[in-house]
Amino acid sequence: MAETEAETIQAKMQKLLAEASKKSPEELVFNYKGVLYPRFMCSNESFQALESLEAREDDVMVVTYPKCGTHWAIKVIHELLYSLQNKDVPIDQAIIEFLNPEKVEHLKGKPSPRLFATHMYPDDLPKSFFEKKVKMLLIFRNPKDTAVSYYHFSNKNPVLPSFDSWELFFEAYMEGKVCFGSYFEYALDWNKHIDKENIMVVTFEDLKEDFKSELLKISDFLGLSLTEEQVALVESKTTFKSMKENSSNTHGKLGDVFFRKGEIADWKNYFTEEQSKELDAKFEETLAGTKLGEKMNYNKYCTF
Ligand code: A3P
Repeated sequence: MAETEAETIQAKMQKLLAEASKKSPEELVFNYKGVLYPRFMCSNESFQALESLEAREDDVMVVTYPKCGTHWAIKVIHELLYSLQNKDVPIDQAIIEFLNPEKVEHLKGKPSPRLFATHMYPDDLPKSFFEKKVKMLLIFRNPKDTAVSYYHFSNKNPVLPSFDSWELFFEAYMEGKVCFGSYFEYALDWNKHIDKENIMVVTFEDLKEDFKSELLKISDFLGLSLTEEQVALVESKTTFKSMKENSSNTHGKLGDVFFRKGEIADWKNYFTEEQSKELDAKFEETLAGTKLGEKMNYNKYCTF
């Protein structure tokens, strides 16, 4: 992206963040089909405009609940689809529900392959994404670390309502009264789709613990084969350290907010025994025994 264009986007973002920081928690959210969304990022008009976005067979979509590793996955796929192919494509505003109607129009003319991301529920996505069997990479992260990451993010990102304490955030998270709704309902809804050939599930934890083998699976899923050198190159460009170091270019003043710790098990520093048990019970009631629940390796990552 030309430097001036990047600067304009950052300047617009700064203005928006300054405006958002003056608003009350109620003014920051709106309800769309029973789920809360950040008013400064999306609107009814953006959801309506999205309905006219026709998917293409070679589109690629990253699907995440917030804080599960969206930007990490976008960067990895961006490297695979564009950088390794010597295509100069900027990573800009990939999250489709954050696009205004004008940007949606712009996307319609973008060359293939297009890379998108979304936090939307499957039933709310434009139907053509399923009809065209767009490749979707679902990134899930254990619900305890996701909660802690989301707590910090909510308090540092002015477009989201903040919380006076971890306890208050935990309550809202468990009740699904946070932006993008309940982690558990979101995961259950996506679980209905995971047997489809165009859908692949990757976990944050597997990416952390065995990046190379996950990268090879992802590239295989996208129909690409990588040399050893390419694997090493993508790995070096997508480590937490390198993404954090570059974050003021990619995310402006919110760089350190998007790239906070990037670790597994930080939840142990926040959850009380009681909160941990409450979430265990919720998991048992909802995702335990589902295919997605199995993939999460809950006992390994969510036990004190
Ligand atoms: P933490 O808050 O636990 O640090 P999202 O992109 O969906 O908003 O997810 C953000 C979370 O992913 C943050 O978690 C962030 O630090 C982590 N993350 C981002 N890039 C990462 C990377 N390359 N490696 C490991 N974690 C990363």
